[in-house]
Amino acid sequence: MQNHSIRVGIASMGLHLPPLALKVTDLARLRGVEPDKYTLGLGLQDMALCPPDYTVVELATEAAKRALSRWQGKLSDIGLIAVGTESAIDMSRPLSAWVADKLGLKGAVRSYEVKHACYGGTLAVRQALEWKLANPQQAKAALVIATDIALYTENDPGEPTQGAGAVAMIIDEPLIAAIEPKSYAWSEPAFDFWRPLGEAYPRVDGAFSQACYQRAATECFKALIAEDESEKILAELSALCFHVPFPKMVKKAFSQVVQHFGWNEQKIAEFYKTRVEPTMSWNRYSGNAYTASLWIAVANTLRGLTVGEKIAAFSYGSGFGSELLLLKAGPMAHLGEWAKDIEQDMAQRIYIDEHEYLQLRKDIVSPH
Ligand code: HMG
Repeated sequence: MQNHSIRVGIASMGLHLPPLALKVTDLARLRGVEPDKYTLGLGLQDMALCPPDYTVVELATEAAKRALSRWQGKLSDIGLIAVGTESAIDMSRPLSAWVADKLGLKGAVRSYEVKHACYGGTLAVRQALEWKLANPQQAKAALVIATDIALYTENDPGEPTQGAGAVAMIIDEPLIAAIEPKSYAWSEPAFDFWRPLGEAYPRVDGAFSQACYQRAATECFKALIAEDESEKILAELSALCFHVPFPKMVKKAFSQVVQHFGWNEQKIAEFYKTRVEPTMSWNRYSGNAYTASLWIAVANTLRGLTVGEKIAAFSYGSGFGSELLLLKAGPMAHLGEWAKDIEQDMAQRIYIDEHEYLQLRKDIVSPH
């Protein structure tokens, strides 16, 4: 990882999970599935759910308010707002306009929405970073929000992986984490998961989507790591964060990546247990929040790190596009203040049972 030129990164963070949740064991009972399939087979506990009147705008706005509240700057110091989402509520008006409206943000501000399935949030982060790096005199900061609500058709194999959430980041001084300017992207056009115009739920080729994800992860890590350097490079990283559609997916992808470098099962299991699995302890309770999933894992991982500790973040979006980022903890990472957001939302949220879940689905005429 280059050290010399890193000046930009995450200055503040805020997270938000919606006010409802369902235990995947309750969904398993409803669907007549062995609960272990969802808890052990997929690695999930709960899915976060939104009430009918709760959209990605409410999720994003709350996360943004939280990020802004613990930042030293003012709203007028924001010069760019970018929202990554695949739960857009309009084909034309960007989601950033709704969020900016709620925040009272206007003026000399670049405002837009980014779409590339679950990869859209990471693209927004990269664009904000590159916007800062391209303008060394840039005094303003960027507000980036990844926000999504994941819902599948009833009885779809993806139904237990549903979830929702938002992560907001202020991209400016690297107080929480510096983001390495160099990153490693890989894309291939594919139909693994997509949502045609006018359709409420995605179409998914589950097995193919897993193969695409694993291929993307392997290619990105191959670009970072020379054939004989995997132990050295990965040992320098305190943690590897991945996009988390469900935790078992991450376990499979990590195994595939390091098998490529010739790691044996014992070494894979040890590294996974200590440096990959712990990153997902919040994702098990949010479910797949699409664009926000990776950043929930990153936020979870950064809290408590000491200055200079390095982590990797692998982003994947169906279609498909992917990118591997490197981050280095800044002086405020150890405080981990944003963990309060998740603790508060999880303590306050209401668990509905499987019958209320069915009613909720009826009440949500359109998922967004
Ligand atoms: P499935 O086909 O119903 O599940 O759904 P399965 O039969 O493959 O079983 C899943 C695991 O449970 C297996 O473990 C079983 O053995 C195990 P594995 O062999 O894979 O290690 N299992 C059990 N374990 C314990 N006790 C039991 C039991 N029974 C079975 N009794 C599938 C899986 C991924 C297809 C489904 O969840 C799905 O379609 N999900 C949606 C797509 C998805 O998440 N794909 C992931 C990669 S693509 C991606 O990440 C992008 C995405 O986020 C969208 C975007 O970019 O916008 C989705």
